[in-house]
Amino acid sequence: MNMKIRKVSIEDLDSVTEVESRCFPMSEAAKKESLEQRIKTFPGSFFVAEIDGKIIGFINGCITNEKTIYDEMFSDANLHISNGDYQAIFGLDVIPEYQKQGIAAQLMNHMIEVSRLTGRKGVILTCKDKLIHYYEKFGFENKGVSKSQHGGAKWYDMILEFY
Ligand SMILES: CC(C)(COP(=O)(O)OP(=O)(O)OC[C@H]1O[C@@H](n2cnc3c(N)ncnc32)[C@H](O)[C@@H]1OP(=O)(O)O)[C@@H](O)C(=O)NCCC(=O)NCCS
Repeated sequence: MNMKIRKVSIEDLDSVTEVESRCFPMSEAAKKESLEQRIKTFPGSFFVAEIDGKIIGFINGCITNEKTIYDEMFSDANLHISNGDYQAIFGLDVIPEYQKQGIAAQLMNHMIEVSRLTGRKGVILTCKDKLIHYYEKFGFENKGVSKSQHGGAKWYDMILEFY
């Protein structure tokens, strides 16, 4: 499988919107306008996985000085602080037919590596209980139930600190 991870570009907007709608229920999926704002605001922390020119997954998130994600971050890309301490992860998506082949893990490792190399203090994310064990494999620590009400679901705060 010839998989490539690269930085997003605005031409990818329709493809990433399609991937997002296939990975999340409508109440949780980021809308096209929101993804467009993210691509324009933090292209340096938005990566896509591509196979033979087709986008099959992506990872993205703003940079912040907070150690936990709060809901306004998802809808307001202007909360991005380009020289902030922590890389947030808003979404990690791989379309169903390419899941369980380690593609999300490669996207995550890429994001962690870039964050480390650019001098961040760590990476933060929120996830549902069924994915806590998955993120722990990358070294994330579970900090308990998040204040986030995103999409009406229950989320957990996870953090990976580099030191
Ligand atoms: C969560 C998600 C991103 C994972 O994507 P993925 O590419 O399947 O992830 P990986 O392949 O790295 O790992 C998934 C599982 O497959 C396993 N796996 C990885 N490579 C494998 C292989 N070659 N053969 C068999 N299993 C494999 C992993 O160990 C992992 O198992 P686990 O759940 O027991 O820990 C994907 O399922 C998705 O997009 N879901 C919907 C959206 C979502 O919930 N995103 C996360 C919210 S923040």
